[in-house]
Amino acid sequence: MEVIILSDPGRIAGLVADAVERRVRATPSSVLGLATGSSPLKIYEELIRRHRQSGLSFADAHAFLLDEYIGIPRSHDQSYYSVIRREFTNHIDIPAERVHSPNGESDDIAGEGARYDESIRAAGGIDIQLLGIGTDGHIGFNEPASSLRSRTRVKTLTEQTREDNARFFPSMSDVPRHVLTQGLGTISESRQAVLVATGAAKAEAVAAAVEGPVSAICPASVLQLHEHAAVIVDEAAGSAL
Ligand code: GLP
Repeated sequence: MEVIILSDPGRIAGLVADAVERRVRATPSSVLGLATGSSPLKIYEELIRRHRQSGLSFADAHAFLLDEYIGIPRSHDQSYYSVIRREFTNHIDIPAERVHSPNGESDDIAGEGARYDESIRAAGGIDIQLLGIGTDGHIGFNEPASSLRSRTRVKTLTEQTREDNARFFPSMSDVPRHVLTQGLGTISESRQAVLVATGAAKAEAVAAAVEGPVSAICPASVLQLHEHAAVIVDEAAGSAL
């Protein structure tokens, strides 16, 4: 696992955008694994800028979201499908039908995870997976105690994660309790994984992920076993390393 500490979020975004751009230029049909949350926003801004200014094209790319809420429709402005379209994919040339997310409205919610994993496999597997990290060490929505080999499935959010995400909803009672998330095993199959974190609130989770034991209690620690993973943080998020 490569650990990189940079002085500001703009440099983090530039470095990660370089990695995505290299992949997409080398293989235009690359499969991108996308994360929501505030952490990757600057990366998306930088990729949109490169698309507009230097012709970086995603016309042949595929994108798969990490996770999705259950209990709000896809059309809700806080569904991760809506968020990723608004923040990123609507502003580049990737065809809308190649932007995939777990279907939180599925009639067969228990079978949706296996269907999603199969669609990732059918697209050729994820080439580069972007990740943020929760304050409790979760990646995607794999909360502490998630199996290190888990597949895409339904999870129940912890109160901590619901509180962390309450800022996006009118009140705490509007925050969904259940989600679909790529599993830690699914994420581990990506060819390259890049976790980004900024701010002191992430420092403990980052330290546990990088320096702690590989343990289901800190789901992000599974990246220690990944053959091509990087953790890229600012000085505040790296302050407990
Ligand atoms: C949510 C998402 C995660 C994200 C985390 C941190 O729980 N499911 O993918 O990493 O939030 O979000 P932020 O980057 O806003 O701190």
